[in-house]
Amino acid sequence: MRVVCLPGDGIGPEVTAAAVRVLESLPLELTVEERPFGGQAIRELGDPLPDDTLAACREADAVLLGAVGSPEFDAAPVRPEQGLIRLRGELDVYANLRPTRGGNVDLLIVRELVGGLYFGASGRRPDGSAFDTCEYSPAQIERIARRGFEFARQRSARLTSVDKANVLETSRLWREIVTGLADEYADVQLEHMLVDNAGLQLVQNPGRFDVLVTENTFGDILSDVAAGTCGGLGLAASASLGDARPGIFEPVHGSAPDIAGRGIANPAATLRSAALLLLYGANEPQLADALERAVDAALESTPTRDIGGTATTEDFTEAVVRAFDRAAA
Ligand code: NAI
Ligand code: MG
Repeated sequence: MRVVCLPGDGIGPEVTAAAVRVLESLPLELTVEERPFGGQAIRELGDPLPDDTLAACREADAVLLGAVGSPEFDAAPVRPEQGLIRLRGELDVYANLRPTRGGNVDLLIVRELVGGLYFGASGRRPDGSAFDTCEYSPAQIERIARRGFEFARQRSARLTSVDKANVLETSRLWREIVTGLADEYADVQLEHMLVDNAGLQLVQNPGRFDVLVTENTFGDILSDVAAGTCGGLGLAASASLGDARPGIFEPVHGSAPDIAGRGIANPAATLRSAALLLLYGANEPQLADALERAVDAALESTPTRDIGGTATTEDFTEAVVRAFDRAAA
C-alpha cells in the first residue's frame, strides 16, 4: 500500500502527521511519502501542484491530504486552492463522499466533485463584471447519480437527490437523468428536494436523511451544514473516488490559519478520512471500522478544544493509538 501524503498549509501538516502516526501503528504494510502541495509548494516551487507531486499521486494507491490555503495568497495571482481543484480534476475523482454521524444522525452526502461552477469558464469582462458558469453533461450526472443509488443500496435504500430544478437548467437536466435511472434501482426509494429546503431540513431534522446526491457547489455547502449539526468541522471526513485508484482522502475543513501552529487542531476529521482510506483505498473494512471506533472512543475520553475539551492534537492522537491497541489486545 503506497500512500502519498500532501500536508499542505496551516493545520494541514499537524492533522496529517496525526493520521500518519496512526496509520503507521496499524498491522498493515504501508509506505507514506510526502510531497509539497498548496501554498507550501508555491513558496518552494512557484506552483501549487508541481509536476513531481502530481506524478507521485498518480502512482500511489491513495492520497492523504491535509488542507491548503493561507491569507498570504488571498490576493495572489496563483492560489493554493487552484492546486486542489486541479488535482481533483487530474485524478478524475468525481465522487466526493462526506459522511456525517452523531446522535440520531447518520447520513452520507455524495457530492459531484469535478464539474459545475468550480470547473466551468470563469473570468472578468472589460465592463468590470465577473462570471462563473455551471455546466453539466448527461454522462457527468449519470455517473455520480449511479454512485448515489449504489451507496443508498448498501445503506437504508433511501436516496435524496438535491437540485434547484425550479430555477436552473443544469438542475432540470440533473433531475431528468436521476429520474431516468430510478427504474434500474427500483429497490431504492428516490426523492427529489430543492437545495434551499435541503439546507433547512439538514439544520432542523438531519435524522430524516440517509444518502443525498448533489452537484458540486450545493454539496460543498450542504456538507458543511451537515457537519455543523454533528460536532463541527473538526469531525467531518471525506473520500473522493473515481473509477480507478487513487482516491483522495481529506478532512472537509480548511487550513484554519486562526489556530495553525498551536498544536490544538482536532485531528478527528483527518483520522476519519484515514479510516475511509482503509475502507476504499486499501480494502481493509475491519481496520477501517476499528479506527472509526478508536476515534469515537477518543472523542469521549480526550476531546479537543473545538468540541469543549482541553486536549491537544497530540493527546488526541495518542488516545486513538491507545484505544486501537486496547481493541486489538
Ligand atoms: P476552515 O475550515 O479552515 O476554518 C473554519 C473554522 O473552523 C475556523 O475557526 C477554524 O479554526 C475551525 N476549524 C477548522 N478545522 C478545525 C480543526 N481540525 N480543529 C479545530 N478547529 C477547526 O475554513 P476557513 O477559515 O473558511 O478557510 C481557511 C483557509 O482554508 C482558506 O484559505 C480556504 O480557502 C481554505 N480551505 C481549504 C479547504 C481544503 O483544502 N480542502 C477547504 C476549505 C477551506
Ligand atoms: Mg468546502
